[in-house]
Amino acid sequence: MIFVTGGAGFIGSNFVLDWLAQSDEPVVNVDKLTYAGNLSNLVSLGHDPRHIFVRADVGDEKKMSELLMEYRPRAVLHFAAESHVDRSIHGPRDFIETNVNGTFNLLEAVRAYYGTNLSDTEKQAFRFLHVSTDEVYGTLSATDAPFSETTAYAPNSPYSASKAASDHLVRAYHHTYGLPTLTTNCSNNYGPYHFPEKLIPLIIMNARLGKSLPIYGDGQQVRDWLYVSDHCAAIRRVLDAGRPGDVYNVGGWNEKANLDVVHVLCDILDELDPRPQGSYREQITFVADRPGHDRRYAIDARKLEAELGWTPKETFDTGIRKTVRWYLDNQPWVEDVRSGNYLKWLEKNYNERQA
Ligand code: NAD
Ligand code: TYD
Repeated sequence: MIFVTGGAGFIGSNFVLDWLAQSDEPVVNVDKLTYAGNLSNLVSLGHDPRHIFVRADVGDEKKMSELLMEYRPRAVLHFAAESHVDRSIHGPRDFIETNVNGTFNLLEAVRAYYGTNLSDTEKQAFRFLHVSTDEVYGTLSATDAPFSETTAYAPNSPYSASKAASDHLVRAYHHTYGLPTLTTNCSNNYGPYHFPEKLIPLIIMNARLGKSLPIYGDGQQVRDWLYVSDHCAAIRRVLDAGRPGDVYNVGGWNEKANLDVVHVLCDILDELDPRPQGSYREQITFVADRPGHDRRYAIDARKLEAELGWTPKETFDTGIRKTVRWYLDNQPWVEDVRSGNYLKWLEKNYNERQA
């Protein structure tokens, strides 16, 4: 049994689906279902008995303790977070609550479970895997080397600052209490079930609705894109073979300027779903820049590649094409998210256990 937090969000749901496609080991999926949690991401599981969904807040230490005692997982994989930089600028409080206090409370519950409920053999096998971001390292100039695991932390947004704080707590629980932790710092993900507040799904959705395609500032900010299933495979690999206490950077060696990404999306849409009136590129609009906008992120993933043999399967070209195709083929999902109907999944379609 593994214990996943945030498994109804973008990466967490992809992880749960990938996991259950490859393993019979059950998953307890603990998610608060904020606006970013969408149970319809998991509808293909039906009522698969290997998937146990529990609506709960990772900041509720008592509840986390009860669940850990009840299910006795051999690993906790912590995806749950507030994850959108723009939201963190408008309202940082939720980011501190979930990413900092929530992670702290979860760590406390896990520390008690690990310390008092596991046999020596179970302790040896146990892992707490913390899913984090490259944004904790701050920003790079065009000529700087990519972020490595030893790059100094320099977060610039409330989001990245809150994730940095959570990374430090995880590190401290390893060094102080001997909790067998693993931390992954990954670059920007994209793929199916991505909530359309983030660049790639927002552009695909707006393009098809005939809306403007907003580019912040000059559009020359660089992100290092990784297809989500490659991230999921990296997490599985780190869980299996990572060294307790270690950090692993995860990235796809796919640095792209935002404007180039948007051009690629428009070109694929022009091919797969042409607009009679001309290219989707005509909908591109330059808008005011994000405050404190990090210029460039880039990940040096050599440690993960050399020590654990992980390499990404998708190139940017293959991954982005699959992604556009997915959004075109999954209109009901897109429409549910756009209209807010996805928030009703809970009552309508899921036999959830109440927290
Ligand atoms: P997301 O916003 O799509 O999903 C977050 C999930 O966490 C949602 O299902 C939400 O309901 C749940 N959640 C939020 N607060 C909670 C709480 N207090 N208790 C329980 N559940 C809660 O995020 P994502 O893009 O899937 O990111 C998942 C993790 O990966 C995050 O920790 C994020 O920092 C990290 N990450 C994301 C990216 C990326 O490009 N999206 C890149 C690197 C790392
Ligand atoms: P985003 O998907 O929010 O991820 P992050 O901020 O975590 O990297 O944004 C990716 C890049 O795209 C970032 O440089 C901001 C930019 N961006 C736009 O130019 N327009 C938009 O509408 C959005 C949402 C993002």
